[in-house]
Amino acid sequence: MTAEGETAEGEALIGGMINAGAVFRHGALVERPAPRTARALHTHLLALADHGFDAAPIPVGLTEDGREQLTFIPGDVALSPYPHWVMTETALRSVGSLLRRLHDVSAAIAVDADARWPRSLADPAGGTMLCHNDVCPDNVVFRDGRAVALIDFDMAAPGRAVWDVAMTARYWIPMLDPASATAHHPAGLDAPTRLRILADSYGLSPQERAELPDVIEQATASCRAFVADRVADGDPVYAQALSERGGWQRWDRIQEWLTAHREMFTSALLS
Ligand SMILES: Nc1ncnc2c1ncn2[C@@H]1O[C@H](COP(=O)(O)OP(=O)(O)O)[C@@H](O)[C@H]1O
Ligand SMILES: [Mg+2]
Repeated sequence: MTAEGETAEGEALIGGMINAGAVFRHGALVERPAPRTARALHTHLLALADHGFDAAPIPVGLTEDGREQLTFIPGDVALSPYPHWVMTETALRSVGSLLRRLHDVSAAIAVDADARWPRSLADPAGGTMLCHNDVCPDNVVFRDGRAVALIDFDMAAPGRAVWDVAMTARYWIPMLDPASATAHHPAGLDAPTRLRILADSYGLSPQERAELPDVIEQATASCRAFVADRVADGDPVYAQALSERGGWQRWDRIQEWLTAHREMFTSALLS
């Protein structure tokens, strides 16, 4: 958790890019811009809690000026460049089993089919379960080196479980060519071994394992399109991050690397 400076607005919480500079802590509460789907999302988060899932913020309210209030979850949130402690095998395993716990509960909750769930990072195949879609390190709270909660459900949308696993793999393996990976992750992370650890700790089925490398490539294409849309809309945070990280060439390189290593990932997952 990075917290900088107490102001009249509260304590600024630094983390994500989408709401950069607009997330504040007030004691036990977090106040942040409400996503378009806030009402449906709050209903879902309350249902998660009702089903005994204690690893997500509990919504507390919506303000008239378009902000939402949720419970603050104490712990550590790693920011880029990611420190070693958040990329250990223990940390990865805890992320896989936490995502599975989320999915097991989410699968039992009916999705609000009328809500305008965001499409940009959503599973193009659709589905009946609400996926988180943005399980990056900045959106996971840790205690004692283990993942204890998922936050920031702004990108949640219906999809297949394997899509959420693919999105999670992108950030946590990470599913990046070595040159791109070392920019924000500790050196020496072994991608096929870590992908297998994520699949095992999640309890991914054989059929989903067979699909996963291809779904990761599709998810990567969706993330690239998401960045392209933000940049085209003139979002300065995304434009700066894109140029600092090496522009579209980096995305080309990642996609080439994924395609070139597809079979290696498949055999690591299924051997
Ligand atoms: N409910 C919460 N509990 C604990 N920390 C939180 C919570 N909500 C946000 N944070 C902290 O604030 C940071 C930014 O918040 P987030 O809602 O993820 O913003 P963004 O939408 O820009 O990604 C997170 O990375 C995390 O460190
Ligand atoms: Mg976030």
